[in-house]
Amino acid sequence: MPKFHSLRIKEVRRETDECVSVAFEVPEGLKPEYRFIQGQHLTLKTKLDGEEVRRSYSICASPFDDTLRVAIKKLEGGRFSTFANEKLQVGDSLEVMTPMGRFFTKLDPANEKHYVAFAAGSGITPILSIMKAVLQREPKSEFTLFYGNRRTDTIIFHEEIEGLKNQYMGRLSVFHVLSRELQGSGLFSGRIDAEKCSAFCDMLLDPQEVDEFFLCGPEAMVHDIRDTLTSMAVDKSNIHFELFIAGLNGKAQQKQERKKAQSVNAHIQITLDGNSFEFPLTSGQDTILEAAQKAGAALPFACKGGVCCTCRAKLMEGEVEMDVNYALEPEEVEAGYILTCQSHPKTDRVVVDFDS
Ligand code: FES
Repeated sequence: MPKFHSLRIKEVRRETDECVSVAFEVPEGLKPEYRFIQGQHLTLKTKLDGEEVRRSYSICASPFDDTLRVAIKKLEGGRFSTFANEKLQVGDSLEVMTPMGRFFTKLDPANEKHYVAFAAGSGITPILSIMKAVLQREPKSEFTLFYGNRRTDTIIFHEEIEGLKNQYMGRLSVFHVLSRELQGSGLFSGRIDAEKCSAFCDMLLDPQEVDEFFLCGPEAMVHDIRDTLTSMAVDKSNIHFELFIAGLNGKAQQKQERKKAQSVNAHIQITLDGNSFEFPLTSGQDTILEAAQKAGAALPFACKGGVCCTCRAKLMEGEVEMDVNYALEPEEVEAGYILTCQSHPKTDRVVVDFDS
């Protein structure tokens, strides 16, 4: 089960004008709990103006470096990201959840794979972790990165990526795509979208010879690239993606609006850490997670957007409908797993187990 611990900040590094990376000190006794896999994220929790705020940020370090570091890009109106960029200092402490996430594939030093990543803006964060881990752990594998930004000065981890190119010469190729700065070639000007992806596949790589694709950035970009790659007969199971959470998308919004009007009369039973508790769920708008919180239960959650998987549990009895699901694999849904932050009861009784 994911758990929060208070960790002291040991370094705050300015990466660009709008992004800092924050490294945490992990006490010896907690090291096993904070062992992570490349591409995973941490949920940070603190109180801002007396209110609890939680946000998830991807780890930008490799699991083979002895560092636990996340990158936090300042978003317009972003409470936590502004606080982190303007106020966080070495010596401060934050509540940090143990690492979560499935944005990775298993590494093996015997692999001779070609990995390709498409990242935009701070979408580079988990990709950097994956890229470093692949280069360190799989000496015969290659990595190609397409990285979209506005201008050269907004490229997060620019120097670090250049350093990796020199260190792993011949195994790492990086193509920067800039939307607000003229580049020598039109191919690398603009945004990474379906058209660009097709052009890259025509001129720079054969998608059939790529073993794994990793995509991270805004939803529209991720969907565009995924659709383009699948239209080129790339197997879906080789396309891994992580989305930015930009609030409820259209589909989820519509579903919530529809449910607002409904009243329901469901009884929910939850098991967590061996303890069971029950509560009624009466508003069509409430998810199981929200209703449990209203009833005073502390369930694990982070994004509340169907992305991070922290709230995953197994449905033991009854039926639910999920607003969105960006986190569970089809096999998990098949096996009865649900995202409680997205689930609404469809039957009068629903039994959910967080321990399964
Ligand atoms: S809290 Fe992130 S998927 Fe539910």
